[in-house]
Amino acid sequence: MPTFVGLDVGTSGTKALAVDRRGHVLACAERSHATSRPQPGFSEQDPEDWVRSATQALHDVGQTRPTGLACSGQMHGLVLLDGRGRVLRPAILWNDGRAAAERREIEELVGASRLLSLVANRPVPGFTAPSLLWVRRHEPDIWERVRMMMLPKDYVRWRMMGGAPVTDVSDASGTLLFDVRRRRWSAELLDALELDHTLLPEVIECAAGVGASSDGTSVVAGAGDQAAAALGVGLRANGPIGISVGTSGVLAELRSAPPAAETDGRLQELCAYSSEVWQTMGVTLAAGGSFAWWQGCCGQASAEVLIAEAEAWPPGCEGLTFLPYLSGERAPHHDERLRGSFAGLAAHHDRGALTRAVIEGVACSLADVLALMQSPRRTLTARLSGGLAKSRLVREIIASVTGLTLELTSVADSAAYGAALLAGVAAHEFDVHEAAAIPQGFEVTEPVAADQDAYVGLLDRYRRLSGKLTGSDR
Ligand code: XUL
Repeated sequence: MPTFVGLDVGTSGTKALAVDRRGHVLACAERSHATSRPQPGFSEQDPEDWVRSATQALHDVGQTRPTGLACSGQMHGLVLLDGRGRVLRPAILWNDGRAAAERREIEELVGASRLLSLVANRPVPGFTAPSLLWVRRHEPDIWERVRMMMLPKDYVRWRMMGGAPVTDVSDASGTLLFDVRRRRWSAELLDALELDHTLLPEVIECAAGVGASSDGTSVVAGAGDQAAAALGVGLRANGPIGISVGTSGVLAELRSAPPAAETDGRLQELCAYSSEVWQTMGVTLAAGGSFAWWQGCCGQASAEVLIAEAEAWPPGCEGLTFLPYLSGERAPHHDERLRGSFAGLAAHHDRGALTRAVIEGVACSLADVLALMQSPRRTLTARLSGGLAKSRLVREIIASVTGLTLELTSVADSAAYGAALLAGVAAHEFDVHEAAAIPQGFEVTEPVAADQDAYVGLLDRYRRLSGKLTGSDR
């Protein structure tokens, strides 16, 4: 019986998920790995830890020799290797803020609009190119020895399964060095930044084969976690949109045409899981991250207890508003210096009110991104995934604030699932359209009509407050 494994090299750990030839889940497992923060704003991981957690997770699902294997993984991370394939320094992650000066430098050097025409994205600290420039400037001894850069999941796949050190089009899209419209590295941008193109791996489509491991497993390129998750929840061009409330909050929409020339860069553009599809997404940096921060402030109180307390408060929390910019923001505000706040606190507000305000603030940040994505043909249904989506109250708040009908899908680990489906596509068990039709929506949450007036007021308050913080005239 053929089996296919998806390995998702995430930020908190690596998940392994095995499926059969119909895409039914056989087993899944997760092993954690640590993040180090050597200085404020820095976020690093040891690639060796990924290899360890991935090897253990693969062992845990009982699939050491699957028919096919594909990885998904945290995007944008920078792994630097010397000429013998040795890791030169800890990986700099997507949520690392050190390269703020380098991201401005890239915009100034290349010009914001030329950058958008070359790579369809704006730089953010934590994207691969600013991190690369940071190492070049601050660690010249290391830079001198660099011969290759890799993205996290590609390094893990290469170490565990061998084959060529390639990446895929979706993960390459997050480097800021990739011409997303033409699905190839941007020679022009590499030249402008004086980066040697031999540092970069070859790029192939997500379901393309990389080779076979010594055990005979077919190894497939895989995808960045957001592109894999899009497949794992069944997003299709002009179909439902996706909302994921993990550490970050992501709204994603698939299109059958490359990004328009006039994109303003507030949304991210990437190549999606098959060659004729592109993905537009807006990322808020602290969705589940805000809730986890609040849980920490409450002495790690259980999510169930906090959410039960929140339920006692009415929508809008009697004037209390939370702005979730704990790590700055990417969309719609694109400003790493933004900071969060509670506004409208009164003496009668208790822990439940603050918890509810945190969830409502996260829902408002998703509604702000949705407003950027509104296109006339977009459906009003969203496939919802991520840890916070498990709570009914959270689903109701997100549905009511955004006005979307939400559907859960049966496999919660959507990125690992999407990667496993890509491995099945590569083996011709199903084509990519059939794969995208496997995940089914269930557990539908409609907006709560009685709450909507209160949420219109909340969203207005939220936008006025964030307008003041960003200085924008909304
Ligand atoms: C996407 C992004 C994160 C990471 C980590 O642009 O920054 O979602 O991929 O999961």
